[in-house]
Amino acid sequence: MSKKVKESCSIVSQECIATDIYSMWLKTENIAQEAAPGQFVSLYTRDGSKLLPRPISLCEIDKEKGMLRLVYRVTGKGTGTEEFSRLHARVPVETLGPLGNGFPLDEVKGKRVFLMGGGIGIPPMLETAKQLDADKTMILGYRDELFLNTEFEAYGKVYLATEDGSAGTKGNVMDAIRENGLEADAIFACGPTPMLRAIKAYALEKGIPCWISMEERMACGVGACLGCVCQSKDVDEHSKVHNKRVCKDGPVFLSTEVEL
Ligand SMILES: Cc1cc2nc3c(=O)[nH]c(=O)nc-3n(C[C@H](O)[C@H](O)[C@H](O)COP(=O)(O)OP(=O)(O)OC[C@H]3O[C@@H](n4cnc5c(N)ncnc54)[C@H](O)[C@@H]3O)c2cc1C
Ligand code: FES
Repeated sequence: MSKKVKESCSIVSQECIATDIYSMWLKTENIAQEAAPGQFVSLYTRDGSKLLPRPISLCEIDKEKGMLRLVYRVTGKGTGTEEFSRLHARVPVETLGPLGNGFPLDEVKGKRVFLMGGGIGIPPMLETAKQLDADKTMILGYRDELFLNTEFEAYGKVYLATEDGSAGTKGNVMDAIRENGLEADAIFACGPTPMLRAIKAYALEKGIPCWISMEERMACGVGACLGCVCQSKDVDEHSKVHNKRVCKDGPVFLSTEVEL
């Protein structure tokens, strides 16, 4: 397991890439070197009334330059993510990471793998696409406006689904699989719970393994508060109940291990 540290990272660049969606590169001392696809960092705000850090997945990892890319959605006025979106280059941001387990790349090496992302679940699939040595098919679901989609094209065929039908299949990622007759031996996915539920059911029906990244609400981010538990099939070692801590045991789980 990677070693997590709290660092004061410096913003290298920040740009708005779609409505309310921002892309930020952070220079780190150690976090990028330790990081793996599917892990996340927790960013602290400067607002003393907001004590809890905000978990954001790693969209890209540049170990050589010691940099991390985060792509995040501003959730509303006065929120922590709105504060991050206003920060300029060279501003320091308190960052804890890398956190969580990440996707098990070796388990699916050489296989036909669907990398599925929905909305703000799309960013962690980019570094996963980069590092995964497999026959990859990307299936990305959006409400309407696209972001990051062209950056996936270097790693395999990309299929899009939009709710309004403005690009790719009209509907969701499952509709895109059906419309294009796509097949795989395994799935990695990240996105909203209804999407993950549909993907879990599809994987069960096809008898293929599926790992999902759950972006539950979080508090401490390091396994101490149980603020992020999800229902699990097995009894958790730590809490002795049918719970898993998304921040510590996840955020990536085998879909059959968790209730959605
Ligand atoms: C493992 C993980 C990875 C994530 N990766 C991304 C990402 O790559 N890009 C992205 O845009 N969003 C991501 N999220 C969701 C992101 O953490 C929330 O949108 C963000 O914390 C909201 O903070 P806020 O200050 O905007 O909102 P506020 O409403 O001010 O937040 C209040 C509190 O609730 C928590 N909270 C609110 N919504 C969520 C949520 N959906 N998940 C977790 N905590 C929440 C905040 O951390 C904070 O402690 C991820 C969440 C998790 C758990
Ligand atoms: S957020 Fe505290 S245990 Fe997961």
